[in-house]
Amino acid sequence: MKYLEYSNGDKLPLIGLGTWKSKQDEVSKAISYALLNGYKHIDCAAIYENESEIGAVFKDLFSSGKINREDIHITSKLWNSNHQFADVEPAIVKTLNDLKLDYLDLYLIHWPVAFQPGVTYPVKAEDFISLEDVPLVDTWKAMIELKKKGLTKHIGVSNFSIKKLEDLKHNSGVVPEVNQVEMHVYLQQPELRKYCEANGILLTGYSPLGSPDRPAEIKAENEPSLMQDPVVNELAMKYNVHAANILTAWHVNNNIATIPKSTNEKNIQSNLNSANLNFDKEDLRTLEKLDKHYRFLAADYFEMEGNPYHDIFDEQ
Ligand SMILES: NC(=O)c1ccc[n+]([C@@H]2O[C@H](COP(=O)([O-])OP(=O)(O)OC[C@H]3O[C@@H](n4cnc5c(N)ncnc54)[C@H](OP(=O)(O)O)[C@@H]3O)[C@@H](O)[C@H]2O)c1
Repeated sequence: MKYLEYSNGDKLPLIGLGTWKSKQDEVSKAISYALLNGYKHIDCAAIYENESEIGAVFKDLFSSGKINREDIHITSKLWNSNHQFADVEPAIVKTLNDLKLDYLDLYLIHWPVAFQPGVTYPVKAEDFISLEDVPLVDTWKAMIELKKKGLTKHIGVSNFSIKKLEDLKHNSGVVPEVNQVEMHVYLQQPELRKYCEANGILLTGYSPLGSPDRPAEIKAENEPSLMQDPVVNELAMKYNVHAANILTAWHVNNNIATIPKSTNEKNIQSNLNSANLNFDKEDLRTLEKLDKHYRFLAADYFEMEGNPYHDIFDEQ
């Protein structure tokens, strides 16, 4: 399996299995199938509400010796209601208990957005806390402590702009090791990629297939379809693969890790095989031209009248 390398030599496998929207009654089979068929990287989060089902599979496979825990890169994420310094360690401890692990490989601040403690999904402006009241750098300093305590081997962030990465770097002196962001052929973000490369930040691209199974209420009307894109499908014909393989191979060919979600065994296997597709320069240029700065997860549900969040990607 191809991988990226952390500064201490640890490996971040380029293809992992995503688990957002993987239903509690389907996720166990998916994780078990993936790990027994070559996956070395699983992407979890407390908010996906399936970590205890995933943990039961980890326990079974690791304790029976079928899979070595040390060979698998496991990520989880701190939810927005736990940004206050004192809430960060209890949050990772809960995730470790659910996942039945002694340590994570990577723990991420899920979003640069803070909610009041106890609020899972905000429904009104008062459910949020401003970044003046809970600065991201304070949350980040708590993440640094988790790494020192060995609760996670690596720490990073998710959905952070260059501006927010710079703030953390200057105000804590510790650069996040990973930034996990939406990234695919319609949202290639060349400036963010350049910045991360220059600062030694590894990138993971989420929603590589355009997240077609997310709820209708967080989909834009008439959104484009990555898997139906004619250029992607032409390349799929050329390589005799599914369009999904072209989309995830774009990440691999650009040294970006990616975590396609699937609970379908055929798709799980097929997505892993994408790592073996090598594009020539012309294919890469063809795919580069598809960029249209299109976000499937515009995250406008974090922006409510009267709350302090208006431009979380710092794009306006
Ligand atoms: N950090 C963050 O804020 C954040 C945000 C979003 C996502 N993520 C992570 O990134 C992961 C992936 O993103 P996503 O779940 O939004 O969407 P995605 O991976 O872009 O798309 C998942 C959809 O594609 C289908 N699919 C998967 N492989 C396929 C294949 N080979 N052929 C055809 N269809 C295929 C899946 O169906 P089947 O299950 O039926 O195969 C599912 O409907 C998440 O699960 C999560 O772990 C992180």
